[in-house]
Amino acid sequence: MSATAKSKQNNFSEAVLNWFHVYGRKNLPWQQDPNPYRVWISEIMLQQTQVSTVIPYFEKFMQRFPDIEELALADIDQVLHYWTGLGYYARARNLHKTARLIHTQFKGIFPTSIEALTELPGIGRSTAGAIIALASNSRATILDGNVKRVLCRYNCIEGWAQQRQTLNELWSLAERLTPATDCRAYTQAMMDLGATLCTRSKPQCSVCPLQDSCQAYLSNRTTEFPKKKTKKLIPQKSTQMLILHSRDGQKVLLEQRPPQGIWGGLWSFPEIQEQDTIEHFLNSHGFSVRNKPVQWDDIPHTFSHFRLIIKPLLLTLSSEPAAIMENKGWHWYDLDKPSELGLAAPVLTILEKLGNRS
Ligand code: ADE
Ligand code: SF4
Repeated sequence: MSATAKSKQNNFSEAVLNWFHVYGRKNLPWQQDPNPYRVWISEIMLQQTQVSTVIPYFEKFMQRFPDIEELALADIDQVLHYWTGLGYYARARNLHKTARLIHTQFKGIFPTSIEALTELPGIGRSTAGAIIALASNSRATILDGNVKRVLCRYNCIEGWAQQRQTLNELWSLAERLTPATDCRAYTQAMMDLGATLCTRSKPQCSVCPLQDSCQAYLSNRTTEFPKKKTKKLIPQKSTQMLILHSRDGQKVLLEQRPPQGIWGGLWSFPEIQEQDTIEHFLNSHGFSVRNKPVQWDDIPHTFSHFRLIIKPLLLTLSSEPAAIMENKGWHWYDLDKPSELGLAAPVLTILEKLGNRS
């Protein structure tokens, strides 16, 4: 590295570290006893999910699965139960697969190189870097969404951050700026800076440690970066969810979804696509309803590639559910004694609503 590049790196990381020692977050649960397991779980939970949402999930998860062995030996349904409401359930499946791999193939010990870590399900280059830097304080580089935003602004990077070429540029900049020592604090500092100062809208440049050298700030163009790809409109679909309520109001019917597709393997309400098939659905399963179905308000739910409008329809059955139906991937969910199941987030919302009124 040339002398000027080196001094640029030092100025940058020094400014970031000095800021961190005063303003950075130091009491997050995963910063206490930051072993690779705890860091890994927290990093996966924090993908696409805010810190305040993650904290209670992380704490409960750690109580139930305190180490890699507990997680590896658990049933996937248990893991999904602890993930209920966090969304992006592929994360939980990959977590479980990776725990099993580490348990069986690496004697429960996390690999320590980026290459070996990125071989594992669900661990990308940035997450691998975070695990190394945060757990062992060794030199490794991250480039998550927050860091991308900071660096796009810092160097006025013109491309949009998903483009291959822009990503390469961001990675090499991120690598160059990473200091040789103090990588744990530096990594947390970059995340905190992005999350608290260099926010998506209205970055707080006047109190930012990078204001003297940030190109976007110096040229008064912070709103121009990162460049946005024109948003494509995502399609909208709708579905009728049937809430089949037992006569005594105690139980509702849940159905396990097929392993592939949205909410794969999670438990949800039976769905029908068209209003006129309700009758057919009820008849074919031998259900009879006691009174007029009640249509609840729509629940919109956005996935990465489409928007789903859920139309919940409450149907109260006139006879008690037959136990026999437990066999078909069906489950009579007892509102007073809830089973531990992986549930899709809107299903949890509906179950809570049902629980509150009875
Ligand atoms: N987002 C991703 N990783 C994080 C961390 N360690 N602390 C806070 N926010 C994060
Ligand atoms: Fe972000 Fe402003 Fe700091 Fe530049 S000066 S890194 S735009 S907060």
